[in-house]
Amino acid sequence: MNPRVITKAVIPAAGLGTRFLPATKAMPKEMLPVVDKPAIQYVVSEAVKAGFTDLLMVTGRSKRALEDHFDRVPSLEYSLEAKGDKKKLDAIHEATHLGDIHYVRQGDPKGLGHAVLCAKQHVGDEPFAVLLGDDLIDERDELLSVMAEVQQKTGGSVIALMEVEPEQISAYGCADVSVVEGEEFVKVNGLVEKPAADEAPSNLAIIGRYLLHPRVFEVLEHTAPGRGNEIQLTDALQVLAAADGEGSGVHAVVFRGRRYDTGDKLSYLQANITLAVDHEDLGKGLKTWLKEFVAGFED
Ligand code: UTP
Repeated sequence: MNPRVITKAVIPAAGLGTRFLPATKAMPKEMLPVVDKPAIQYVVSEAVKAGFTDLLMVTGRSKRALEDHFDRVPSLEYSLEAKGDKKKLDAIHEATHLGDIHYVRQGDPKGLGHAVLCAKQHVGDEPFAVLLGDDLIDERDELLSVMAEVQQKTGGSVIALMEVEPEQISAYGCADVSVVEGEEFVKVNGLVEKPAADEAPSNLAIIGRYLLHPRVFEVLEHTAPGRGNEIQLTDALQVLAAADGEGSGVHAVVFRGRRYDTGDKLSYLQANITLAVDHEDLGKGLKTWLKEFVAGFED
């Protein structure tokens, strides 16, 4: 298949969010606010900015708030208009003007691979992007556009990796890679989901951005539950990495920018602080307070 420009993006947001309990007992983790917007809004904005025009969100039980957030609320708009509160109006329009979002439900959260498979009918036979709904890439750092260039060159699937401390690799999918002569991207030889630190092939962790060849659907249909009894996207990509023929092959971009996993409590707090110190209204006050607060720490 010739590489085609990707227009479709799938945003899985149906996971249980157990790492963030009890906050996520009745509320989707993707709705947790990062500074003043829910995490999912950053992800949808990133997809729109990257040029994806057809967005499909995978949701599930207790996830109604995700759909509501991107709907218009005429009574709220009317009341803000009547008060002449343009700033707040602009803030709510930011979410509702992002474009059309389609939704599909994952009735039973059987893993990320299963969530991606729920998008099969909508995506059809074309390459597509996957952006995890709880994974934030700082908008000041480029990732999807770099991945798209690699996908155009290689025609297969492209994943994003990030170096982590060796003792952290057991929380991620991990990649065994080799250098591609004269290129900045790498070839993926193998992938393993959440390996023990002493068995990990590298300290390169898979992060939540993928450009996938549609052949992944066929593989996912035959992927048995793996780690955690979930259907793992990593396992399907491992098959594609080792396969031959059309749609095979996985390459990777090693991302060196800022990324936050908002499903993880510590990373979530870091996201809030990192983004808030640069926020036009909050930054100055927060920095002043932070300096005083940190100065009071004893090692
Ligand atoms: P996570 O690996 O963070 O899993 O999912 P999780 O189940 O949501 O959270 P924890 O580990 O219990 O805290 C990564 C992304 O994939 C989605 C999640 O919503 C998140 O955006 N996902 C995961 C699904 O859509 N369906 C699933 O079955 C699993």
